[in-house]
Amino acid sequence: MRLSKLQKSYSKNTNYNQNINAMSTKTKKTSSKEGTETKKRILSCIQPTGDIHLGNYFGAVQNWVKLQEDYQCFYGVVDYHAMTMPYKAKELHDRTLNLSIDLIACGVDVNNLFIQSLIPEHTELTWILSNFTSYGELSRMTQFKDKSQQLGDTDKDAFVSAGLFSYPVLQAADILIYKAQLVPVGKDQEQHLELSRNIAVRFNKRLKTRYFYPPKPLFTEIKKLLSLADPTKKMSKSLGEKHYIAMLEPEKSIRKKIRSAVTDTGDGDGTEMSAGVKNLFELMKASGAVEAHKHYLELYNNGNRRYGDLKNAVADAVVNLTNDVQNRKTVLEANREEVIEQIYASSANVRKVAQQTLMEVREIAGLPKLKY
Ligand code: TRP
Repeated sequence: MRLSKLQKSYSKNTNYNQNINAMSTKTKKTSSKEGTETKKRILSCIQPTGDIHLGNYFGAVQNWVKLQEDYQCFYGVVDYHAMTMPYKAKELHDRTLNLSIDLIACGVDVNNLFIQSLIPEHTELTWILSNFTSYGELSRMTQFKDKSQQLGDTDKDAFVSAGLFSYPVLQAADILIYKAQLVPVGKDQEQHLELSRNIAVRFNKRLKTRYFYPPKPLFTEIKKLLSLADPTKKMSKSLGEKHYIAMLEPEKSIRKKIRSAVTDTGDGDGTEMSAGVKNLFELMKASGAVEAHKHYLELYNNGNRRYGDLKNAVADAVVNLTNDVQNRKTVLEANREEVIEQIYASSANVRKVAQQTLMEVREIAGLPKLKY
């Protein structure tokens, strides 16, 4: 498949760029009515900390792809955020580009995608907003407490950066800079979203304006996948190789992991479906094999507890999905330079919206007008 054809098949919303530009001029005149005449604005971001696995895909990315049909979407790969924990420069650079390409392979429209650090206005807004955020609020963030603790566990003199502490202000800037109304996130981000709303409201109140729209989280039905090797835990990379399936994993390895998935452990009394079996059914349904899901559920309810065939069917469903993504990834990789150029172009386009916001915010906040 040619690259241009590939992209056309993803992007239903071809007017997107015009939309962004139209919105940015409109916001100026009718900021209080924003969104009433056009599609609602959505923003979400992902950190470039590793490859996409099925847990991320079903928990976030699949949802992002669907939302593109009904909303005006901004999706960021947040490399500034990934600097808050110890990291290697070369790895960060490669992961940021690779994750951006993987997201496109999963069906994210390149026109909706941006790399955070290509829009340095995010950091300028972070500085401004940090003066409307209290030290106490940031100290109460559970993610900060967990992560600084995690660093402390490995080394009692561990370096806890100021970046890690002010991370949620950068997140608020990501959202507010585009005046996003809805933010699709998991429950773990609820506290950060609440802080973003508080910052928006405090900025408005102190500067006697109604400039920022307090963003709302969009908790959609999220399928939480469990580890195949230990279904008492969430599917995650940090547990190790056998606990997750990567989107770009070879078919053979995917089949092997599913074949060796834990099913009935013999702990239960056999009346309730075990967590492992439930997880296999979830995986099958999430992968889109609706008919097979129905069929095997019927077998299960009729007392069939031999899981060989079920596992094969689950593997077929998963491989069907990952193959699609992998084929698209191959096409994108064959045109890597061109794809990266498109990501830059899209980020430059998104940047215009951010620059417009900063121009307005600087004026409201009492900073002199920037001459470009
Ligand atoms: N903090 C989010 C996470 O860890 C990532 C993120 C950064 C984000 N900026 C955002 C999510 C803005 C939503 C909106 O998953």
